[in-house]
Amino acid sequence: MTNPPQTLFINGRQLAFENGETLLEVARRHDIDIPTLCWLKGATPTGACRICVVEVEGARTLLTACTTPAAPGMDVQTESPAQAPECRVEISIQDARRMDISNGQRIRIRSRRGVIVAKAAVSNDILPGVVFIPFHFAAAAANRLTHAALDPVCHIPELKVCAVGLEPADEALKRGTA
Ligand code: FES
Repeated sequence: MTNPPQTLFINGRQLAFENGETLLEVARRHDIDIPTLCWLKGATPTGACRICVVEVEGARTLLTACTTPAAPGMDVQTESPAQAPECRVEISIQDARRMDISNGQRIRIRSRRGVIVAKAAVSNDILPGVVFIPFHFAAAAANRLTHAALDPVCHIPELKVCAVGLEPADEALKRGTA
């Protein structure tokens, strides 16, 4: 007598898996796309880049699909708000103190080309006098602060670096400039 196939759920779909498969392997076998960077077919996964993180019900943190073994009854989401958080502007502890900005506070960031609003991520990992803003959030598009110039020889975009000013968004709102 053969055992019934083991199953788990990915994005609400009940899917069969085989012993030893990872979540990434199960997803790919069922045409569910999970992006990867450091994973190489046939090589032992390292879980280094965390591009492939998924949300697993009951897990305290996001898990890397390329290293997490499939288990019966798992409930996995490959696209959830936890995996695509909102834009954060990284700011040093020293600058945050000087400007009286707290972690998670909404900040207005302006350059001579535009303005965006994003939440502050106060961090030890960034130098005073520098902020970092990821480019991939439409609601707080860092491209609005820079410009679309291309290198005149290679025709590739320039490095997106520009001078910005920061202030708490509530203060700008009070003045009517947010
Ligand atoms: S692809 Fe890099 S951690 Fe999974």
